[in-house]
This record gives sequence, C-alpha cells and structure tokens, in this order.
Amino acid sequence: MTVYLNGEFMPIEQAKIPVLDRGFIFGDGVYEVIPVYSRRAFRLAEHLARLNASLSAIRIDNPYSNARWSELLEHIIAANPWDDQGVYLQVTRGVAPRNHLFPKGLTPTVFIMADALVTPARALVESGAPAVVLQDFRWLRCDIKSVSLLGNCLLRTLAADQGAIEAILVRDGFLTEASASNIFIVRSGIVLTPPKSHLMLPGITYDVVLEILRSNGIAHEVRPVTEAELRTADEVWCTSSAKEVLAITTLDAKPVGHGADAGKPGPAFARIYPLYQQFKAKFMRAHAPTHAPTRGQD
Ligand SMILES: Cc1ncc(COP(=O)(O)O)c(C=O)c1O
Repeated sequence: MTVYLNGEFMPIEQAKIPVLDRGFIFGDGVYEVIPVYSRRAFRLAEHLARLNASLSAIRIDNPYSNARWSELLEHIIAANPWDDQGVYLQVTRGVAPRNHLFPKGLTPTVFIMADALVTPARALVESGAPAVVLQDFRWLRCDIKSVSLLGNCLLRTLAADQGAIEAILVRDGFLTEASASNIFIVRSGIVLTPPKSHLMLPGITYDVVLEILRSNGIAHEVRPVTEAELRTADEVWCTSSAKEVLAITTLDAKPVGHGADAGKPGPAFARIYPLYQQFKAKFMRAHAPTHAPTRGQD
C-alpha cells in the first residue's frame, strides 16, 4: 500500500510520525474518508469543503489548496491496486511539547492512505442489518470530523457486543445519528431525517440521499425526529460512504416495521437503493478516472 506523509509517497511500513504529534497525544486533528468508484473520487469537492470546515472549527490552517489535495489524492488512487477504494486522509496540528493550549505556527502532519472499498454485500442489502439504540454520550461538536473517535468506537463496540452492526444514537429524546453513519426513518410513506446541527456529522451520503429524494419527488421532511418515532418507524436506514444506504431491520432485537414487512427492508428502501446505485453510475459516466500526476509534480 502506498501512502502519503508530509510531502512524500512511500510504502505504509515506512510511514512514521514522532510520538509528540498532537494527533497521537491529544487526538488533535481531523480526517475524511472519500469513496472512490472505478478510480473516481466521489463527491470530492464536498469532502474537501467538509475538511475545510473541520479544520477551521479547530483553528488549523488548511495546509493545501483544493487543487493540491486533488493532485495528492489522484496520486494515491493511481498508486494503489484497487479500482474501488476508501481513501482516508488525516491532518493533525503537528508536533509540539505536550500542552493543552493550541500552539501557534506548527506545521500540520498530513497523512493519506487507501484501502479496498467494501460496500455491503448483496445478501446484507437484501436482509437488512441489526442495530441497537444507545444514549449519545459523545461531546457537543459532532459536526467536526475529529480523529478523537473514542466515543464512537465505544458505542460501536457496545453495539457489536449485542450482535448489531450499528449503534443508533439518541440525545434528550431525539435521534442524532449513529456511531459511523447518519439515520433516516420512514413513517406513513414520508422519509424523515434530523437537520444538520452540532450534534451530528454532516454526512456527504446524507446530502446525496436528500438530493435523490428531492429529484425523484419522494415525500420527505428534514426535521427533529423523536426517539419514539425512531422506535416505531416503518423503516430505518443508515447512510455513509462505506455503507451507502443500508436498511436497519431490527432495533434492540425487535423487528423494524409492521405487518408482513416487519423485520425486512421496506418499500421505500426498495426505491432508494437502486436510485442510489443509479446516481453512482451516472457520476462514473460523467467523470474520467483519475491518473497519477507525472513525476516532478510532487
Ligand atoms: C459519526 C458519523 N456520522 C455520519 C457519517 C456518514 O458520513 P459520510 O456520508 O460522509 O460517510 C460518518 C462516516 O464515517 C460518521 O463517522
């Protein structure tokens, strides 16, 4: 695997950072995960805009222009063996003696790697997945895509302890998101999802799903969703770059939905899933694959 670290491309085994990197000491950094389909980075402009928002929220100057980010990502995509990739990039504040106060003038640490993109297998798309509902005990700036993911990791592990693939989170009686995805529910034929706020990550997939709902005239509302509405929903979906749109078919081991469809992906999911795949296919037709920049440009 070829990675990028602070100006150089190298095999991952050679990538090393100093122990006083504030990412290591404090989790003082932000990241992005960008899905790549047939070597095309999906929604790159949106991911770079969210990166910029995360960086400015924690007062790190973006080390690169969008053009430079695009070049580096193109190089990583071309240098790695998979056509479909999950590209991970991380920016930390840099290396400094340990002190809580943000030091000024540090050189940020920039790291990029890629892995094979694994989207849900057909069997999982057809069966749907189990989730549990847990209290959202994370901090109040979940809109920042911070590398400090201990809360998310613990919640995801609590879900796995109960055989679930996701922890769907509620705070003060309202749905926020899940440990690594956003949540949509369906009630009486209307798709509902919470509005963006400091309490959830503004998902790129969340925006894509809303765009698809709008452009296909599918009834939906972006408004606060109560825990009671979540627990009695006809359908629940989670969305993320890796999970795309996936039906959640049990909540706390109880089937989601009612009647004959209970515990199975519902009719609204049967509509949104192919529309999402078509959206991706259209994107791939409209974008040429990326190529590595010629030597000397790095
Ligand atoms: C906490 C959280 N919410 C939502 C998402 C979905 O974001 P995206 O659709 O940009 O992948 C993620 C993605 O990893 C996440 O970690």
